Amino acid sequence: MTLAQTQVAPLVFPTLKDKVVLVTGAGSGIGRAGAMAMARHGAQVVVTDLDPAKAAKVVDDLGDEGVSAASAGLDVTDDQAVADEIDKIVKTYGRIDVLHSHAGYQIEGNLEQVPVEGMDMSWRLNVRSHFIAARATVGHMRAQGGGSIIITSSNSGVQYDREMIAYATTKHAVIAMTRQMAADYAKDNIRFNALCPGFIDTPFNAGFETQMGGRDQLENYVARTIPMGRWGTTDEMADSILFLASDMSTFMTGHALVIDGGECI
Ligand code: NAI
Repeated sequence: MTLAQTQVAPLVFPTLKDKVVLVTGAGSGIGRAGAMAMARHGAQVVVTDLDPAKAAKVVDDLGDEGVSAASAGLDVTDDQAVADEIDKIVKTYGRIDVLHSHAGYQIEGNLEQVPVEGMDMSWRLNVRSHFIAARATVGHMRAQGGGSIIITSSNSGVQYDREMIAYATTKHAVIAMTRQMAADYAKDNIRFNALCPGFIDTPFNAGFETQMGGRDQLENYVARTIPMGRWGTTDEMADSILFLASDMSTFMTGHALVIDGGECI
């Protein structure tokens, strides 16, 4: 058979129809783009954020496209609120297939510059909150036969940044935790993968912009230090989120998926 005679099935992205998804920190940036992409691919998405108005705006914007979703205010540092939200989702929709635990925190500085409270808050948001959310979710996923948990780390979890001790340390730690959970729950068909973005132009980089000395300096830094010479887009992150959430990645667990234009090479 020649190559021309070979029947190639059209590439169809697996639908997320009937999948129930919770995204935290989804009112802006990467979380918002991923939540919108999953909803557009048929998932029932619960968009949550510390700021309920931002979460509601995402749902409104999806509504303008004819796509439905639900929103709620949720502070991921409130353990009880996180557990209650997950239980409410299972009660309302009967299951939870995907948890994208995304909200995080960045404080710049080296060992002497970062206040102890800044280190504590980094641990609280970048590690502990993912532990709490995953802990509240796995029992439901085991009972239903599996699920996908996506935890946002950073490429700062696989490399060392200058004067970002609290961020780099906690983003490394959460990859270790993700891999440990992946090993423990693989037998239950619950997949855990870490999403590791590089420079994505969202409000999250405001602190780093200040540290760099302003927007022009930041743009210059990105152009010089990212091998691809540019920022990544939130849509490029959403593509990876879709991949990790869907049946495109059913044999993939314990992975740190780095999407950073080559920065950490
Ligand atoms: P963003 O600033 O666009 O959105 C973050 C959202 O999280 C905001 O809507 C904010 O209200 C919400 N949030 C803040 N504290 C919260 C809390 N306690 N509970 C619930 N929601 C809360 O940020 P973006 O770009 O989406 O980044 C957020 C995550 O992505 C963080 O985990 C960060 O470490 C990671 N990341 C971002 C990169 C970037 O260049 N934008 C690069 C690498 C990682």
